[in-house]
Amino acid sequence: MAKSDKKTIFSGVQPSGTIHIGNYLGAIKNWVGLQDKYDSIFCVVDYHAITVKQEPEELGRNILDVVKIYMASGINPEKSVIFRQSDISAHTELAWILNCAAARVSDLNKMTQFKDKAGQEKENVSVGLYDYPVLMAADILLYNTDLVPVGEDQKQHVELARTLARRFNSRYGEVFKIPEVEIRKEGARIMGLDEANKKMSKSASPANYIALTDTPEAAAKKITRAVTDSGKEIKYDKENKPAISNLLTIYSLLSGEEIKELEKKYQGKGYGDFKKDLSRTVGEFLTTFQKKYNSFEDDEVREILKEGAEKARPVAEETLGRVKERLGIKNS
Ligand code: AMP
Ligand code: TRP
Repeated sequence: MAKSDKKTIFSGVQPSGTIHIGNYLGAIKNWVGLQDKYDSIFCVVDYHAITVKQEPEELGRNILDVVKIYMASGINPEKSVIFRQSDISAHTELAWILNCAAARVSDLNKMTQFKDKAGQEKENVSVGLYDYPVLMAADILLYNTDLVPVGEDQKQHVELARTLARRFNSRYGEVFKIPEVEIRKEGARIMGLDEANKKMSKSASPANYIALTDTPEAAAKKITRAVTDSGKEIKYDKENKPAISNLLTIYSLLSGEEIKELEKKYQGKGYGDFKKDLSRTVGEFLTTFQKKYNSFEDDEVREILKEGAEKARPVAEETLGRVKERLGIKNS
């Protein structure tokens, strides 16, 4: 990557499960507007995906599909670097170094996402799942990242990256830049359609999410069946009306209409009218999105990943080199 005066953003998505509108509205959509202002790096984090079991054939497919989703969302590979994590070995090397020289078991024991993901199986999940936040810290710190735009659920992980960077710097001298997290007010935590008190999740049942690859008909069906709240007013009130507030958020972010305007528009109308219009809005979005998504060829995507890795690698290796020097394991 050519050196510039711009600040750097870094973010990523795991090529696992089904990418849904929560991923889009909470993260990817926000990256699009940032890529003009920042040097932008977007990673397909396949080593994070394998912290839980993946079918090898599906994983290969999903890696290419995530890139297509980035591009269909408006990430432009001529402006931004798009690459695959496993193509740059500095990520796993730095993760190991941070494991030894910065991260403590007590840090990882605090990670709420691990507790959620591991559930009752805490003793049987992979060591990788437990260590996943350290690999994420390595991703971020290798590129002198200023800003990490993510959904709400990643906040604690970015805070860990800050802690590890500070700890390493204070022990070995300034090497890492301390990154900031960027979380948008709206859409940072899209809730499940079938359960409004849990975030929309890749690993849930299909009724929980609208996949970016759902047909407009399938999405409409899910919206029709989505849970609602008691009462019949269309009003944004997260405490008392979590389900309708979530649907209003989705509607507003996809249509560009303010939530206040939507509340006015549906005054005196019922959930049925509201859901019908929301289905249309979602359907129009999906149709446009999928047209772009389907226009990319696998070979084109492979080439983009190759070029992206070539741009990112020198930056990552330079940082890793400095880290190794500080540790006394380079040129000795
Ligand atoms: P992941 O699917 O875990 O790789 O997440 C990719 C990005 O989507 C991260 O920035 C997450 O914070 C974000 N994300 C995941 N689920 C949601 C959700 N339900 N609402 C908003 N953002 C989300
Ligand atoms: N852990 C993130 C998620 O599941 C994905 C991720 C990996 C990431 N490395 C990152 C996000 C670095 C931002 C920066 O959503």
